[in-house]
Amino acid sequence: MSVIMTERLKLRPFMEGDAEAMFRNWTSDAEVARFCRWYRHKELKSTQWLLNHYLKEAAEGFEYRWAITMKDDDEAVGCVDVVGFRDHDRCAEIGYVIARRLWNKGYMTEAVKAVINELFRCGYNVVSARHHTDNPASGRVMEKCGMHFVGMDRELRKFSEYDMCDVMVYEISRPKS
Ligand SMILES: CC(C)(COP(=O)(O)OP(=O)(O)OC[C@H]1O[C@@H](n2cnc3c(N)ncnc32)[C@H](O)[C@@H]1OP(=O)(O)O)[C@@H](O)C(=O)NCCC(=O)NCCS
Repeated sequence: MSVIMTERLKLRPFMEGDAEAMFRNWTSDAEVARFCRWYRHKELKSTQWLLNHYLKEAAEGFEYRWAITMKDDDEAVGCVDVVGFRDHDRCAEIGYVIARRLWNKGYMTEAVKAVINELFRCGYNVVSARHHTDNPASGRVMEKCGMHFVGMDRELRKFSEYDMCDVMVYEISRPKS
């Protein structure tokens, strides 16, 4: 898997030993989890399970998940990953999360722009993302990355419950060369 450098960030593969930083920075925070389809983790062992799952998928060849770190510090403070694929137009759907203390400093826009470019470089023609209608900050990231609103959809609010919510879907197509 590629390491992606941006002006302020390094996006790298997840590694053994990341669980404590993941738990501290995002998986344990109910405010971060509010519009995500998972519940906050109450115990480190839930995050360790998630990290083990990430490492297993990476070992099996899944290349599209990056831990976000600052350039000068290897601590995982967030994640950008591909959460779904659409075959007919080679579309990759991304999801993302970052520690609350780092919100509104432009970090996710910086990370997502770089991941979109990497996915185009890897042969994807379209990158999509979706956000809960009550989570406009995420939509703003999509807009700032050049993505366009393409429509509404419905999806499970949380993976573990049958409770649907409205989401806004954004896409960006690979520029014609
Ligand atoms: C959504 C999230 C990823 C944004 O990350 P970030 O690093 O703060 O994003 P950026 O700083 O690059 O951009 C945030 C933008 O949203 C704007 N914003 C913040 N709160 C907002 C609100 N309530 N309404 C509208 N815009 C808002 C900011 O002003 C900024 O836009 P600007 O640069 O034009 O001022 C982050 O808040 C997060 O991790 N949230 C929890 C997880 C989550 O919701 N993930 C997305 C699931 S779809």
